[in-house]
Amino acid sequence: MTSSALQFEALEFASVVPDVRLDIYRGEEWITSFANDVHRGLLADPPMLPPKYFYDARGSELFDAICELPEYYPTRTEEAILAAHGAEIVNAAAARSLVELGSGSSLKTEHLLRPLILDNELEDSLYVPIDFSESAVREAAVRLIGEYPGLRVHGVIGDFEKHLGGLPPAEARLIAFLGGTIGNFAPDEMHFFLRRLALLAEPDDSLLIGIDLVKDTEELESAYNDSAGVTAAFNKNVLASINSNLAGDFDLDAWEHVAFFDRENSWIEMRLRSSIDQIVRISAIDTVVSFAAGDEIRTEISRKFTREAFTAALESSGLELSGWFTDENERFALALADSQLASGR
Ligand code: SAH
Ligand code: TRP
Repeated sequence: MTSSALQFEALEFASVVPDVRLDIYRGEEWITSFANDVHRGLLADPPMLPPKYFYDARGSELFDAICELPEYYPTRTEEAILAAHGAEIVNAAAARSLVELGSGSSLKTEHLLRPLILDNELEDSLYVPIDFSESAVREAAVRLIGEYPGLRVHGVIGDFEKHLGGLPPAEARLIAFLGGTIGNFAPDEMHFFLRRLALLAEPDDSLLIGIDLVKDTEELESAYNDSAGVTAAFNKNVLASINSNLAGDFDLDAWEHVAFFDRENSWIEMRLRSSIDQIVRISAIDTVVSFAAGDEIRTEISRKFTREAFTAALESSGLELSGWFTDENERFALALADSQLASGR
């Protein structure tokens, strides 16, 4: 789609739903980055695919199903922490608007929006969700403005690694990054990303970051190896996405989902393992890759932190921990942080 068509679509939507504005950055350039990343990743040693490509419409649906799995404790644990401490967090941050990175279906977000709008008696408040998934942002926007009169939603459909510069200005922002998504960055990438957030923040902004905590191996591994096979389908969806977007011919049945806890690195590592000798063609990028049975593609890591390790990571990036909220079993935590580098523009 051309960018003018994308703008037209956003305008058309805005005129139907007046309290919602959507900025769509995900045009043709997205396919180009996808093509480059797949090309570079599959030819690397070991081969890898960047995780942000899990989340097309089907991927977002599968992720929502993961969140409901009995084995996948992070979502319900983070939700319980937010339900118990949402108002306290909003007050501690003295927040008057909410920005959310990787907002997905924005379900847990309501535990922050409700105290933000209702407890503060704000008559006009702004929620800025940023996500790749256009369907998820649209649906969330329509649901939320229906629930909270006076709420305006300014969604950004794009890449939070690239499009944070275009955020609408807002007062006293709580910038939330939930779901443990920050743990999907490699350590150096996380450092770089946190530093950018520290520089982006203004003095009255705060950051709220959801992180999964270190715990025993069995509980961790079963969260990423569910018995219903939803996580396996989610992991393989990146191959389906290559097939449909880049004219690939991955046979999804010839790949096996692998997830294990690497205690030394303190992360869950997800891979796809070829179950046979095979040759894969990806026509749109003129690439042919051969895999022997047992060869693996790394698809994602999910880091598990201690309070000490995460506090140190914040500090080294120019952020300071100002609040720590956890559940009674210390499975998951929400870290509230202020920037030491706030620009004060
Ligand atoms: N916050 C939700 C969803 C977490 S799943 C929750 O806690 O349940 C991660 C979300 O981040 C997905 O919706 C995915 O589409 C989005 N995402 C991942 N990488 C992204 C990127 N680089 N830019 C924008 N969105 C991204
Ligand atoms: N942020 C989520 C996590 O690290 C993403 C996730 C959950 C995921 N399950 C997955 C990513 C399975 C790939 C495969 O927990």
